[in-house]
Amino acid sequence: MDIHFLEAQYGSDDYRTSCDLRDELLRKPLGMSLFDQDLGEEKDFIHLIGKNEEQELIAYLQFKKIEERTLKMQQVVVAEHAQGKGIGRRLVLFSEQFAIMSGFSSIILHARESVIEFYERLDYVREGERFLEVTIPHFKASKRLQ
Ligand SMILES: CC(C)(COP(=O)(O)OP(=O)(O)OC[C@H]1O[C@@H](n2cnc3c(N)ncnc32)[C@H](O)[C@@H]1OP(=O)(O)O)[C@@H](O)C(=O)NCCC(=O)NCCS
Repeated sequence: MDIHFLEAQYGSDDYRTSCDLRDELLRKPLGMSLFDQDLGEEKDFIHLIGKNEEQELIAYLQFKKIEERTLKMQQVVVAEHAQGKGIGRRLVLFSEQFAIMSGFSSIILHARESVIEFYERLDYVREGERFLEVTIPHFKASKRLQ
């Protein structure tokens, strides 16, 4: 599948489409809605997307700056019909290059227990005890960028 990855601006059509994807995959399965939370703080985040040949937005993640040289990776999603084809891996690798080019040296994240191995395969290191977030078990993980 031919995917291109790029940055999307907060408030753009692509950003709004990504919110729908995030709601479908990350919130509705938990009986929640993304739109119940204040998304205003996301104006300061970095939004990265992947589109297929048909210009359909099929992958998304966001970065929140938490320290001078550290980003927190959040809301990583690949559309259901596109999962299991290496797109999530490519999205994360693209985001790491983007982070390096932007002057950052490390990434942290809170991984759902159900997908922690996805991040471990990308060399994120699991840290500490399991904890609850949005009602489900998570682990902290981090990666130092080259
Ligand atoms: C998690 C997610 C982003 C992975 O994207 P994807 O495109 O399906 O993953 P890829 O095909 O790139 O997988 C890369 C590798 O991780 C593995 N992997 C993917 N999902 C996995 C999972 N849930 N558990 C264990 N391994 C997983 C793949 O088998 C593959 O392994 P390989 O190194 O042997 O090839 C996607 O499944 C998704 O959007 N899930 C729903 C939302 C979600 O839970 N997001 C994470 C929030 S923390």
